[in-house]
Amino acid sequence: MPCRVILIAAVTVDGYVARHSLEITTWSKDLHLFKKQTMGWPIIMGSNTFKTLSGELEGREVIVVHRNNDPKRIIENISMDQCFVIGGGKTYYRFRNQLTHIHVTPHPLIFGGGVPLFDGNKKRALDLKFNKLVEVDRESGIFQYQYEIKK
Ligand SMILES: NC(=O)c1ccc[n+]([C@@H]2O[C@H](COP(=O)([O-])OP(=O)(O)OC[C@H]3O[C@@H](n4cnc5c(N)ncnc54)[C@H](OP(=O)(O)O)[C@@H]3O)[C@@H](O)[C@H]2O)c1
Repeated sequence: MPCRVILIAAVTVDGYVARHSLEITTWSKDLHLFKKQTMGWPIIMGSNTFKTLSGELEGREVIVVHRNNDPKRIIENISMDQCFVIGGGKTYYRFRNQLTHIHVTPHPLIFGGGVPLFDGNKKRALDLKFNKLVEVDRESGIFQYQYEIKK
C-alpha cells in the first residue's frame, strides 16, 4: 500500500503558519490532537521548524529535511503506512507533490504577513475532498478539517 502522506498544520484565518521563520509556535490550540494523531508515525520537518522545538517529540521517528534532500526519495524510504509532514511553510511547499491528505486547523488570528502554509513560488492548485471535522475548542470555534487530496 502506498504511504499516506499527511500535511498537519495550525493556520491563521489569513493562511499563515508563523509570524516569521524562527517563531516558536505558542498560539496553536491543537497540540494535544497533533500528538495523538502523529504518535507512532514518522514526522517530517524542515530545519527551521526543528530549531524552534523546545523538547523531543518522543515516540515518533523525526526526519529533518534540508534543501539538498529529495522529497520523493524521502517518502519512498518510509516503510510505514503513513507519515506526517509537520512544517514549516517551505517544507509543506516542497512536499506538495507527495501529499495525499491535509489536516488543517484554522485559528481565530490574522497575522497580516509571515510564513504562508505553502511557501514557494511555483503555485499549484490542489483539489480537496472533505473527510472529517474534529473538534479542538468549540467555544473558540477551533476545529481541525481533514481532507484527502484528489489526484
Ligand atoms: N503552525 C504550524 O502548524 C507550524 C508547523 C510547523 C512549523 N511552524 C513554524 O514555521 C516556521 C518555519 O517555517 P519555514 O518555512 O521558515 O522553515 P522549514 O520548512 O521548517 O525549514 C526550511 C526548509 O526549507 C529549506 N530551504 C531553505 N532555503 C531554501 C531554498 N532556497 N531552496 C530550497 N529549500 C530551502 C531548508 O533547508 P536547509 O536546512 O538546507 O536550509 C529547510 O529544509 C517556524 O516559525 C515554525 O514554528 C508552524
